[in-house]
Amino acid sequence: MSVIIAPSILSCDFGNLERDFQLINRSQADWFHVDVMDGVFVPNISFGFPIIEALKKVAEKPLDVHIMIANPDQFIAQFAKSGADILTVHYEVCPHLHRTIAGIKEAGMKAGVALNPHTPVSVLENVIAELDLVLIMSVNPGFGGQKFIQQAVEKVRQTKALIQASGSSALIEVDGGVNTTTGAALVAAGADALVAGSFVFNNPDPTAVIASLKAL
Ligand code: DX5
Ligand code: ZN
Repeated sequence: MSVIIAPSILSCDFGNLERDFQLINRSQADWFHVDVMDGVFVPNISFGFPIIEALKKVAEKPLDVHIMIANPDQFIAQFAKSGADILTVHYEVCPHLHRTIAGIKEAGMKAGVALNPHTPVSVLENVIAELDLVLIMSVNPGFGGQKFIQQAVEKVRQTKALIQASGSSALIEVDGGVNTTTGAALVAAGADALVAGSFVFNNPDPTAVIASLKAL
């Protein structure tokens, strides 16, 4: 199976959002990656439900929603209503992670858990069977355009081993500093999905960049 490509709309031109959404629709991308930041869990604020609802109206591909917020349980129902297909929460803010994962699935979405660069893969041992997606952060969340943290490659290998040992069908996604070089190493290590923001949208030809990632 070819690698799933999820361009991050955080790096879109916010004055021309529909143009960039349509660009993703017409490209070889598989998902829209949607980064929601609350200014509490991460030191930045991005956007909320109105943007997701506007995207859902035009999106012809699934919405992969990555929420970097301190209290995800409070908003699960609203993300489902806004059109999220996959909802990924951060391990670091979920004291009752098993319950949160169940809540996401009961709301009709696929459930993902993201791990910050300092969080070991082993914390997922007892929930991996419940998960649809593991998101390995290869930067500290909060901003696009940061430098790739190389240790993410090893964490992808560890996640792959955990998934295989448990019989889980979870996909492994990696987010932060992805380009064709880091992306190739991640795919070789077992990544199923790559998020890319600045690498795609800081290029004059985002469609071609998406195609180059898809070919990895
Ligand atoms: C970072 C976000 C990423 C970000 C990636 O907190 O979760 O999805 O948009 O941006 P790049 O690809 O520029 O590192
Ligand atoms: Zn993200």
